Amino acid sequence: MSDIQKIQDEAVAGILAAADERSLEDARIAYLGKKGTLAGASAGMRNIPNEEKPAFGAALNKARQAITTALDEKTKHLQELADKASVAGIDLTLPGRSLPTGGLHPITIIQDRAIQILRRMGFALADGPEIETEYHCFDALNTPKDHPARNEKDTFYFDSGKLLRTQTSSVQIRTMENSTPPVRIIAPGSAYRRDDVDATHLPVFNQLEGLYVDKDVKLGDLKGTLEYFLQAMFGDDTEVRFRPHFFPFTEPSFEIDVKLHAKGQAPKWIEVAGCGMVDPAVFSNISGERKDDIFDPEKVTGYAFGMGLERLAMIQWGIKDIRALIENDTRFLSKF
Ligand code: DAH
Repeated sequence: MSDIQKIQDEAVAGILAAADERSLEDARIAYLGKKGTLAGASAGMRNIPNEEKPAFGAALNKARQAITTALDEKTKHLQELADKASVAGIDLTLPGRSLPTGGLHPITIIQDRAIQILRRMGFALADGPEIETEYHCFDALNTPKDHPARNEKDTFYFDSGKLLRTQTSSVQIRTMENSTPPVRIIAPGSAYRRDDVDATHLPVFNQLEGLYVDKDVKLGDLKGTLEYFLQAMFGDDTEVRFRPHFFPFTEPSFEIDVKLHAKGQAPKWIEVAGCGMVDPAVFSNISGERKDDIFDPEKVTGYAFGMGLERLAMIQWGIKDIRALIENDTRFLSKF
């Protein structure tokens, strides 16, 4: 019994003396291992009288427990020392290194918001090609052959006769070719014009087109929808004005202005979109192509609108120069 106490004392002392994990492991094997001292002592159980065996067993258990506890504590202690050593010389009060995360481009932010509002109002997303036929971009939209927008100075043409769409309005045509009223769609996407780059023009820009065709769609529906939309975008008290205008594919047509209150400037009206009631000639073109009468101008009416997303972004954030939106200067982009 006193041997066991001695083994225990020696083992605990040895464990306390271990200077690193390696020697601690050596100690564990030496004391608790299969061929360790404690195992040796247990083997002695055979040689003692039966009545002493329980006390002997209890002493063995106590020793094993004491040694295990000492091992656990020493392991913890060594780990703490290692942790401390690994941060030695590091100033934990220094600010961390920031990991730059990406962000959404302002045009994407505006587009997402516009889509969110319009989807809530029941518009579904539609899509169309950016390389278009003259038919979809102009003819079907009732644009006469001699319209200035069709000029090679204004439109990018391919040798094939196809072109880079100058407006997302072509998606109106493609949608009506393949659907039945009611049609209620929005189509965001790029449009292309041969413009020289300046503070308000880019040869590639983004539009968001809308089309609603049904029985009895009225001008009041168009006004209410766009007024609501612009107020949802820019604030409930945003003033909106409809100015008569001309587009080949709508009649009557309007340009829509919102009143901008820039800091330190007199409020002014800024054009944000074009819109109007779909011209019956457009419905006739669709009917002729489809060879049916479900878009018969006698049966359906509709409204359409189209807006420039760069313009909306410039209004939203007071951006003065449209070029900031394509220069990829992170000092600008990180503000959004
Ligand atoms: N497509 C016109 C443009 O690019 C914008 C527009 C005006 C679209 C009136 C429409 C509309 O759908 O009804 O300037």
